[in-house]
Parts: sequence; C-alpha cells; structure tokens
Amino acid sequence: MLLRRADRSDMRLDRYVGHAAGIGRSNAKRAIRQGLVSVEGLPDAIPETDIDPDSVRVTYNGALLEWEEHVYLMMNKPAGYVTAVSDRKEETVTRFIPEKYASRVHPVGRLDKDTEGLLLLTDDGDLTHSIISPQYHVPKTYYCELVRDISEEDLDRLRRGVDIGDDKLTRECFTEYAEGRDRIFITISEGRFHQIKRMLYAVDNELRYLKRLSVGNILLGDLEPGHVRKLTHEELSSLKEYRKSE
Ligand code: URA
Repeated sequence: MLLRRADRSDMRLDRYVGHAAGIGRSNAKRAIRQGLVSVEGLPDAIPETDIDPDSVRVTYNGALLEWEEHVYLMMNKPAGYVTAVSDRKEETVTRFIPEKYASRVHPVGRLDKDTEGLLLLTDDGDLTHSIISPQYHVPKTYYCELVRDISEEDLDRLRRGVDIGDDKLTRECFTEYAEGRDRIFITISEGRFHQIKRMLYAVDNELRYLKRLSVGNILLGDLEPGHVRKLTHEELSSLKEYRKSE
C-alpha cells in the first residue's frame, strides 16, 4: 500500500529494497533509479517513496521481496575457513552464505579455522549477545578427537573445571567418551577463546579434530558441510528462552 509522506508507519523504498534484497541502501537507490523496482505492480523510480513494509508488494528484478526484520541462519562450517565477515588473507565463512543475506548477518561467536560444525549467523544483536555473553549459559556440545587416550580421571577433572590460564577455572561441564578412549563429547556453557583446545592442554592432551554439534537446542543434524539453512520458528524460540531464563 502506498502511503502519504506523513504516515507514521512508513518506510522509504530504498531502505526497504536495500534490506529485503540484501543489497544495501546505495545499491537499492541505484536499482530504483534504473527502473528495476516495482511497487504494487508499477515501476517506481523514486527512492524516497514512502511505503508500508507490512502490506506493500515490491519486486526487484521481477522477484517479489519479503520483509524480514531479522535473519537467523545456521551453517555447517567446514574446516579451513575463518569465522569472520571478511579477512584480508584468509577465506571466510561468508562464501557459504546466500548472497541475499551475506551483507546482513554476522557469526554468533566463533569457531577456530580448523573447527567444523554448527555456526549460527544473524543480524539480531540482542540474540547474539544472549548466546555469547558470559551472563547466559547456553550449552554447546563438541565432538573431539584427541591425540592420545584420555583417562576417566582426566575426564572428571575437565568436568569439575580446569585452570586454562584465566582468572577463574572453567565452569563445570559435561564430558563423556564417544568411542574408544581418544574420542569424547564435551558440553560447555561458556565460550572462552580456544576454550576446548585449552581445556585439553590443561589435562596434557591435544585436539586432532573438533566439531560443534549443538548450540542450546539447535542440532547440527545432517546439514552438509558448507550448507546453510534458516532456523525454524521452534529453534529460534528455544534460543530466545535462554535470555528470558536468566
Ligand atoms: N573451543 C576451541 O578450542 N575451538 C573452537 O573452535 C571452539 C571451541
């Protein structure tokens, strides 16, 4: 629905297109001026046109745009990519994000370059804060392959908390053997820098392979390496529960 300029629920067309098409506002302005955008079926070349984002039908290059306030994605991060939006030297996880969202989202926390597995991405700063802030204790489960066998005693030390060189010992966590004695699962509810790696050093062991399997109730499942999907409503609500519970 087109609105008069004075309407309170309005939004400028260039902002809408920049956000909904994921191309940013200046590209949106250009696209609008080039006649690539239609509003309610009619070409509209004026970036300042006021629209109601809740009811308007806008197309860009013939495709209907959808207004999403925030985007919530999950990726199976392959090894060899750094968790960053951009990097001058290394390849980043951004290459796996659909173009439409690539300029919008940021990774929620960080997996090391060699680590694989579940990485969340969003443009919702509040949600990011509630997952990575030490104030909230969102559990994260990792599958670890170790360079040498680990004893029951060392698993127990990890469980109770170890000194990894920070002010405090690591918080209590959950550990169990996965298969044999050199493969384990660890569930931590903190997210310190290189935490799993440093916890294993603390018990004289080392990682050979690390994969994150879950964050809160979100499970990596059978998502292929390098693939990305949107979180379901249920997954998103379960993540938002952590913020409410503290
Ligand atoms: N802990 C680590 O040491 N590395 C990761 O990538 C994640 C947790």
